[in-house]
Parts: sequence; C-alpha cells; structure tokens
Amino acid sequence: MSATARHTYQVEVREVVQETTDAVSLTLHAVTGPTDSLDYRPGQFLTLRVPHPDGPLTRCYSLSSAPDSTACPTITVKRVHGGRASQWICDNAVPGTIFDTLAPAGTFVPQDWSAPFLLVAAGSGITPIMSILRTALAAHENPITVAYANRDAESVIFTRELDLLARHHRDRLTVTHWLESESGRPTEATLRTWLAAAPNSHAYLCGPAPFMTSTRNALVANGFDASHIYAEVFTSLTTDAFGPAPVPEVGGSAATSTATVELDDEVHTITWPEDTVLLEVLLAQGLNAPYVCREGTCGGCAYTLRRGEVHLRENHTLDQHDLARGTRLACQSEPRSDTLDIVFDQ
Ligand SMILES: Cc1cc2nc3c(=O)[nH]c(=O)nc-3n(C[C@H](O)[C@H](O)[C@H](O)COP(=O)(O)OP(=O)(O)OC[C@H]3O[C@@H](n4cnc5c(N)ncnc54)[C@H](O)[C@@H]3O)c2cc1C
Ligand code: FES
Repeated sequence: MSATARHTYQVEVREVVQETTDAVSLTLHAVTGPTDSLDYRPGQFLTLRVPHPDGPLTRCYSLSSAPDSTACPTITVKRVHGGRASQWICDNAVPGTIFDTLAPAGTFVPQDWSAPFLLVAAGSGITPIMSILRTALAAHENPITVAYANRDAESVIFTRELDLLARHHRDRLTVTHWLESESGRPTEATLRTWLAAAPNSHAYLCGPAPFMTSTRNALVANGFDASHIYAEVFTSLTTDAFGPAPVPEVGGSAATSTATVELDDEVHTITWPEDTVLLEVLLAQGLNAPYVCREGTCGGCAYTLRRGEVHLRENHTLDQHDLARGTRLACQSEPRSDTLDIVFDQ
C-alpha cells in the first residue's frame, strides 16, 4: 500500500480575544499555502495540530467568523475540563503562535438560505452557529431564531454581540437563552416549549450529544420535518489526521462493484472492491476527494448515496436522519450492491 501526502498549511494567530473565563477566539491568517487556502463556507471547521507535552494532538475547531465578512478567519475554543488541546490553546495561544492546519472542511453548511432558520446551540456549539448566523444576517433575508443553552450567564459566549444583533435585526432575528442555573437542565418537555419556532424552519443544532438528541426529539414532536434538522457533533479525533492517507494497490482478489461518483462537477466511473473504503479507491485514482479524520468522526468526507447500498465500518457522526437522507461517510463505506450512484454534494 502506498500513501498520498496531505496539503498542510500554517496559520498564525493575529489576535486572542477572551470571550469568557473559559473561552477564547483566535483570529488567524495564513502564513503558507495559496491565498485561497483558508477559504471556507459558514459552518465549516479547521483541523489544527495542537502542541502538547505528550505529543501533538489533532483537533477540529469550527470557524465562528463569516466568510463573506472582512473579519479574518476566527476559531472559538472552549476549555474542556481535563481536556488537553483546549486547555493548551486557552492557556498558551498568543499573537504569533503558529499552528499547522488542514484546509477548511465539513458539511454543516446550509444549502437553502431562503428557509426560516432555527439555530440551536449549547456551550461551545455556538461557534459554527455564529458563522451561519453572521452570514445569514449579512447576505440573506430569512427569519432566524437563535436558541442558546448554557450553564449560567457567565458561560455565554458572544453574549454582547448576540444582544446587539437581536436589537439591530429586530424584524427578523430572535435570540433566546436557556440558563441551567435558573431553569435547570433542559428536558425534552421543556425544550418543546422553548423551541416553539415555525415547523417549516430548517434547524441547525450544535452541542453535547444528549442535548442534541433531546432537541431533535422535541422538534420532531413539535411538528418539525426531521429531514430539515441538521446536527454537528463535537468530539476529539483519536488519530493523526496530518499523516499521509494510505492508498491501496489496485487489482486485489475481492469482488468488485461499479459506482458513478460525481465530484467537483465531474462524473467518474470507478471499480470498487468490496473490502476497500470509497475514500481509498478515490485517492488511488488520483481524485481530490474531501476528508479529514478517516475515522468516521468529523463528517468531512460525507457524500449522498443516490442509489445502491454501502456498509459503514464506523460511524460516530451521522444520525438516523442523516442516514435516511442518504448521507454516508466515504472514509468508512464499503460497497454492498453491484452498482452505486454517489454524489459529493454536502
Ligand atoms: C467538527 C468539529 C468541530 C469542533 N468545533 C469546536 C469548536 O468550535 N470549539 C470547541 O471548543 N471545540 C470544538 N470541537 C471539539 C474539539 O475538537 C475538541 O474535541 C475539544 O476541544 C476537546 O479536546 P481536548 O483535547 O481539550 O480534550 P481531550 O483531551 O480530547 O479530552 C476530552 C474529554 O475526555 C477526557 N479524557 C481525555 N483523555 C482521557 C483519558 N485518557 N481517559 C479518560 N478521559 C479522558 C477529558 O477529561 C475530557 O473530559 C469540535 C470538534 C469537531 C469534531
Ligand atoms: S474523514 Fe472524518 S468522517 Fe470521514
């Protein structure tokens, strides 16, 4: 098996903003790579190599800035109790700190900006939500409700900006907060009352897994169309995403399927061995398929399966609604039908 090298860039921290006692925003600029190396879409994330005494750690951090604005790309990191990379960043990042990064990635990106949005966040989950919110307000006209849950008032990130935006865009933006210190842990029943937005809204959720499960159940119980509920899961990668990707030799003895794959507006027909994941087949053909972690965690390789069946070796990010929509992970997909039709449209 050979290997293909990753495009790695370096970014330098321009400014560090202390958002709360436990959260910092880092504005970044590229010091290596082409000028478009940090071009991103609202809701996407960067993958950083974070220094640590035990050895570097690979971690994803969503961009909180809006790509269309004049603001430098900005990530917002919340300290996780006992967490290694987040503590390192919160305690050590200063203007001039350099990080290795992979190109922006991720599929938590709205496709339809005309629908009403319900943006639901808990804790650090506000980060991609903020990028989507800033973009929608600046470049679109849809009505938006932001519902943001936190432990207490001191934990609320972007509190002042959310307040200012709500006042400035009174006609189309509502911001509502849930504080556990005042109202207790949100339950499915209380979420149903709190999240009483128009059921035709498109909902974007980001926060701890149990919160997102309760939120999704509450929305469906409130009449939301489950296919219009999108979620981003925050977890730590366990592998080094900066290492070269293994590429299998072509011509093994395994049975093969045939797939058409639409990628970057081109359609390719591939022969796909049943014991090989889609990502490796595409990389072996020299195709520029998107990926980050290769462990089924980040969603950076998501595609839509239009026809056929696949088996996912691992899946730590897609839920049953994503799967029902046809979303699958290229880094984990083995073919289970003779022919398949695939599009990278996420
Ligand atoms: C797509 C994506 C986007 C993300 N965006 C953001 C963002 O915008 N902002 C943000 O703050 N985070 C974000 N995250 C989460 C981020 O990548 C990290 O997971 C987070 O910062 C915690 O990493 P850490 O190294 O500090 O914690 P880790 O060291 O990974 O620890 C996490 C938890 O596990 C416990 N733990 C660690 N090691 C062990 C062990 N050996 N045994 C038992 N328990 C252990 C820790 O105590 C801690 O509670 C995102 C994640 C993804 C996948
Ligand atoms: S590359 Fe991260 S889930 Fe596939």
